[in-house]
Amino acid sequence: MVAARITVNGKEAPISPAAPHTTVLDFLRERGLTGTKEGCAEGECGACSVLVARPGVNKPTDWVAVNACLVPVAALDGQEIVTSEGLATVGEPGTPPTLHPVQEEMAVRGGSQCGYCTPGFVCSMAAEYYRPDRCAHGHGDADPADTADAEHGPNGFDLHALSGNLCRCTGYRPIRDAAFAVGEPTDDDPLAQRREQSPPAPVATEYTQDDSTFLRKNTLAETLELLRERPDAVVVAGSTDYGVEVNIRSRRADCVVAIDRLPELRELRVESDVIEIGAALTLTEIERRLDGDVPLLAELFPQFASRLIRNGATLGGNLGTGSPIGDSPPVLLALEASLVLADADGEREVPLAEYFTGYRQSVRRPGELIRAVRVPLPLSPVTAFHKIAKRRFDDISSVAVAFALDIEDGTVRKARIGLGGVAATPIRALATEAALEGKPWSAETVEAAARVLRGEGTPMDDHRASSLYRSAMLGQSLLKLHAQTTEAVSS
Ligand SMILES: Cc1cc2nc3c(=O)[nH]c(=O)nc-3n(C[C@H](O)[C@H](O)[C@H](O)COP(=O)(O)OP(=O)(O)OC[C@H]3O[C@@H](n4cnc5c(N)ncnc54)[C@H](O)[C@@H]3O)c2cc1C
Ligand code: FES
Ligand code: FES
Repeated sequence: MVAARITVNGKEAPISPAAPHTTVLDFLRERGLTGTKEGCAEGECGACSVLVARPGVNKPTDWVAVNACLVPVAALDGQEIVTSEGLATVGEPGTPPTLHPVQEEMAVRGGSQCGYCTPGFVCSMAAEYYRPDRCAHGHGDADPADTADAEHGPNGFDLHALSGNLCRCTGYRPIRDAAFAVGEPTDDDPLAQRREQSPPAPVATEYTQDDSTFLRKNTLAETLELLRERPDAVVVAGSTDYGVEVNIRSRRADCVVAIDRLPELRELRVESDVIEIGAALTLTEIERRLDGDVPLLAELFPQFASRLIRNGATLGGNLGTGSPIGDSPPVLLALEASLVLADADGEREVPLAEYFTGYRQSVRRPGELIRAVRVPLPLSPVTAFHKIAKRRFDDISSVAVAFALDIEDGTVRKARIGLGGVAATPIRALATEAALEGKPWSAETVEAAARVLRGEGTPMDDHRASSLYRSAMLGQSLLKLHAQTTEAVSS
């Protein structure tokens, strides 16, 4: 097997002697590429953002910004990244480099003061600069210049591309000015040209240092055999949870198995009666590929962490951690999703409603992976996802409620409600569903059902919210849905 290596700013470098748990951030800084900064080491600030060449949605390659503080460098064996240093073009010896257009705009518009956050901002900004459909489509399908608003520039720049980047100095307006001022990449721009070729293929990796090993196999079958032999191995996909464990809780595993590039976990199939979503597709990939076809998922994605996190995070990881405050389980419960679980002996399908068995526990056996999430069709037409959190974006839920209702001729034919943050596991609001089904979608029904909903689960008091607040928010959520939908249903 070829020694593990990574291409950084066009130059190949060996990963050795980094430990298997070493993050891309630490690897870069140890090699003198100190433009990539550490602000928090837990995916919250974006100071460590770098660009990775990944399979594109509209072109062979997309430049995708990720948090270098969360991803083990061994996970990028054979891959290609660009840091803030690699964006500028180096000139003749003795002459200063030519700034990249996003760096130039940040400089001339005062988007950088102490400068600590700036390399991360320019990498996130560059990813959006190179998004192939940025200039072609505005917010919706119209000309960007006609649809610009506070969060979308006349150049098609989606400000949410920067939702994972924090700055404590500039007050953000100059940064937004810079983002909304960048033009289109020129024809001779090397990173724009790079999008026309395929990204590096995933490579099998076996990287060992100091009794600790990072492994990647080429196929699902090989991976499942490996997990049969090593049921103690830690499985890693986008590493947005695992990276926090490594950095903040000093988790050190003897054996880590990467599954994020397995082709069998990266398919998205739409059939007449089901949509099957590969467990290792990133949330950004699902969001762009479904393009609003599942409205409840489309409502979830912008409320899930930041673009930087969504560029790495997977549904398999969100369900794999089994957190009671994960945002995808309530939505997937309302959609009546099931999980395809695979191990070396075969596959089985488990309804998500039967998957969680206790706090961070599930029916998943050692050596078993989530291969895909299956969403049955047709979808219920009335849906909503209400995430109650302290900040509008990039925050963890205090409570999350997802609704999927069939309302015909003013009567609720079917109600599915998923809840997060009110019990040791995500749950269905079964009593509330029963209180709604067969009843008119009226203020009286909804008020009675909201009282039932307030009593669902066993919400607790913690630093995010009191149990009383959580219960109150459940009821409010149904009242809000009724207020939002009454007009649409009656018209
Ligand atoms: C700053 C920040 C903000 C966040 N915000 C949110 C938020 O708003 N909402 C939210 O719900 N979460 C949030 N998270 C948590 C995290 O991003 C999600 O849980 C994400 O979906 C994890 O996916 P991953 O691929 O990165 O998982 P990883 O970190 O790679 O893995 C997580 C766990 O799942 C297991 N796993 C991964 N894939 C599979 C699979 N296919 N089969 C079986 N097990 C698997 C792994 O073994 C591991 O135990 C946030 C995290 C950070 C750092
Ligand atoms: S250092 Fe803050 S997100 Fe990585
Ligand atoms: S310029 Fe100082 S943190 Fe952003």
